[in-house]
Amino acid sequence: MRISVAIDGPAGAGKSTIAKIVAKKFNLMYINTGAMYRAVALKSNENGLSPANVGEICSLLKTMKMKFENDDLILNEKNIQDKITMPSISSQVSAYASIPEVRKILVKIQRDMSHEFNVIMDGRDIGTVVLKDSPFKFFLTATPEERAVRRFKELSERNIECSYEGILQDIKNRDYADTHRETDPLKKADDAIEVDTTGLNINQVCEKINSYILKRIY
Ligand code: DC
Repeated sequence: MRISVAIDGPAGAGKSTIAKIVAKKFNLMYINTGAMYRAVALKSNENGLSPANVGEICSLLKTMKMKFENDDLILNEKNIQDKITMPSISSQVSAYASIPEVRKILVKIQRDMSHEFNVIMDGRDIGTVVLKDSPFKFFLTATPEERAVRRFKELSERNIECSYEGILQDIKNRDYADTHRETDPLKKADDAIEVDTTGLNINQVCEKINSYILKRIY
């Protein structure tokens, strides 16, 4: 029987960090669904397609072969992880992620991955849409300020120029866009366990999630 774990929450709540660690513990493939939406934004940009060019974006998406290797997104055999995490993509991605036709295609790809592998997926609609039958659903939260500090540190460590204020504003904008879009907005699934990570370190969050999964597996 396949195991699938769903992790949702707003930008910067620690989903990917936590998901990668839990993936190793339970030998799951980590699927970063935000990376897939970012890839759409990146490729659309490169091809001069704005979010209004829905038909062209969907045609482009059909030529995009995505897979994950060592937690990185590989697009048509190229590792694009660094490119898709640039602030210029972060600030544009919500507009592409709100296109219903794009979501439909990506949700299908994500579900297919969950049928093929034991997965832990993070995103915004995993517990409510993509893996809605999963028995393991978590919703991570933290204050916008704490999330902005985490993103600022992460980008600074990679020598990417950014400001705390700019990141905080971007996080607030994305929270609004992600929770107010019409198709599959970010919301906690009724049966998801909510974990407020404000003031908790990574180990403490992983502990909570691991112990819940262990309890349900055995
Ligand atoms: O998790 P992230 O910041 O890399 O996500 C990038 C964007 O994609 C974010 O604005 C929300 C959107 N997204 C989404 O709508 N659905 C998902 N399953 C994952 C991400």
